[in-house]
Parts: sequence; C-alpha cells; structure tokens
Amino acid sequence: MTILDGKKVSNDIKNEIAAEVEKMKQRGEKVPHLAAIIVGNDGASKTYVNSKVKACERVGFESSLFRMSSTISEIELLDKIEELNQNDDIDGFIVQLPLPPQIDTQKVLNAVDPDKDVDGFHPTNFGKMALDMTTFIPATPFGILELLERYDIPTKGKHTVVIGRSYIVGRPMSILMGRSGFPGNSTVTLTHEFTKNITQITSQADIIIIAVGIPDFLKGEMIKDDAVIIDVGITRVPDDNAEKGYIIKGDVDFENVSKRASFITPVPGGVGPMTVSMLLKNTLLARERHRQRKESK
Ligand code: GUN
Repeated sequence: MTILDGKKVSNDIKNEIAAEVEKMKQRGEKVPHLAAIIVGNDGASKTYVNSKVKACERVGFESSLFRMSSTISEIELLDKIEELNQNDDIDGFIVQLPLPPQIDTQKVLNAVDPDKDVDGFHPTNFGKMALDMTTFIPATPFGILELLERYDIPTKGKHTVVIGRSYIVGRPMSILMGRSGFPGNSTVTLTHEFTKNITQITSQADIIIIAVGIPDFLKGEMIKDDAVIIDVGITRVPDDNAEKGYIIKGDVDFENVSKRASFITPVPGGVGPMTVSMLLKNTLLARERHRQRKESK
C-alpha cells in the first residue's frame, strides 16, 4: 500500500510555481495577485482562507483578503465582487464557501468575471470543463487529477466510483474522470444520498473518490482489494484530548480501508494541501491570460 503524500506533492508544486514567479520578476513582469472574500466567522473557512493567503506569500504572489460580516446583504456582496471584477491589479479571486443563508450562492458565483474565476465555479467555466475546453478546473478535483498523474496511477478503462455530487468536488470529478486523456478515460459511476446498495457499487470500483463529509463513511468491507482510495473529507470532530479541541477526520475508515487499498490519501496531508497548490496554479494561469489579453489590446 502506498500513501499518496499530498503534502509533499503540494510542496513540489509550490516550488515550481515559486520558480515561475522568479522568472516573471526577472522579466520585469507583474506577479500574480489572488484575492479572497470570506463572509462570516466559520472556523474551518477561516483556516482554509488563511492557508491560501499563506501559500501566496510562500510562492511570491500578491494576495488580498476581504472579510465581510455574516449579516452582509446579497447586494453588498455583489458590489464587492463587481469591485474585484473591475480591479485591474487583481488577476483572480475566490468567494469562500459556504455563504450565509440570506445569500443566494449561485447568484454570487454567477457574478464573478469568468476570467478571474480561479475556483472554476462560474457556469461558463464549468461548461467549458465539461466540453474539454481550456478553462479553470476547480481546485480540489484538479488536485486529485494531479496526484493521480504524479503517482502515475492508471485510470484508462478503470471503474471510478465518485461518492457525493457536490458542485465543488463530486460533480466535476465525475466529469473529469470520464474525459479523454490521462488522467481520465475511466468508466464513471456518480453516487449520492439516494443511491441504493452502495456497497455493491463501491466493491466493484478500481478507484473511489469520496467527498461526503461523513467521518468513516467508507469501511474496509466496502472496497475490493487493491482499490485506489481518494478521501476528500475534512470534518472537525470534537475531541477533549486534542490541543485545538477537535481532530480532523476524513470520510474513510483509514485503519481498515488502508489494509486493502493499493494507494490511499491520508487525512490530513492528502487532498487538502493539493487544493491550495492548484488554486495557486489557476492563479498563475489567470495572470498569464490577463497579461496576454492586455498585450493583444
Ligand atoms: N469551500 C470548500 N472548498 C472550497 C473551494 O475550493 N473554494 C471555495 N471558494 N470555497 C470552498
């Protein structure tokens, strides 16, 4: 069994991006600038956004963080988005999810300029992804593809089972694994809360990608020997013995599943760090396209 070391791969990617930024500086070019909007005080969201800002510093990007109150109105948030759309200094930005209930998330995502949508959540970019066109691929699925590629895990003709159909992970993952090329060319089954007999499906899977946010959902007896297991779950479970008062649990019962798997991602240190690095990669791409648009004017 091989552990897919997302922390190490993510570090390699950051080093590659930092080297690109150095070259940009030597050419006298502007470095990429990523902005993030965070609404409210959700502890996990704050941790994720802080790690994105820290990662920007690490690779030499500029970053801006806009904190907004949990009571903000939809109009105020849309105004902020329009401001960032218009700000020529910012190459890409994200609105950290989830958003408070008074705000229509889809309306917000639709308001982001697709050229600056480094999360790849705008319908234009999501559609382009489904059509194999060049676009921003959502960071978590992009990170999973990168892990499969860098560990040279075969996907062609394999049965990939995706558990969870969120717009952030499961749905795009199911599209990407079925696309032509590598990683891809898989036969994909997308399962969700209404799927019947899920064990019958998971036990036939060569590759399982799970993103449901339910700790230990995938048990050892649900997989076949030598399956590849990608665990996207990161749930905070209260634990009085832990320094922070909680521990992070994935969606996979690691102890038992790892005994049968050929490759498996740990939690933490698997998919999570990859997400941050792929957001940086999308931002680098956004900067490059921004520069080209300006040059062609
Ligand atoms: N919330 C959980 N994952 C993500 C992500 O990849 N992007 C944003 N914007 N919010 C998230």
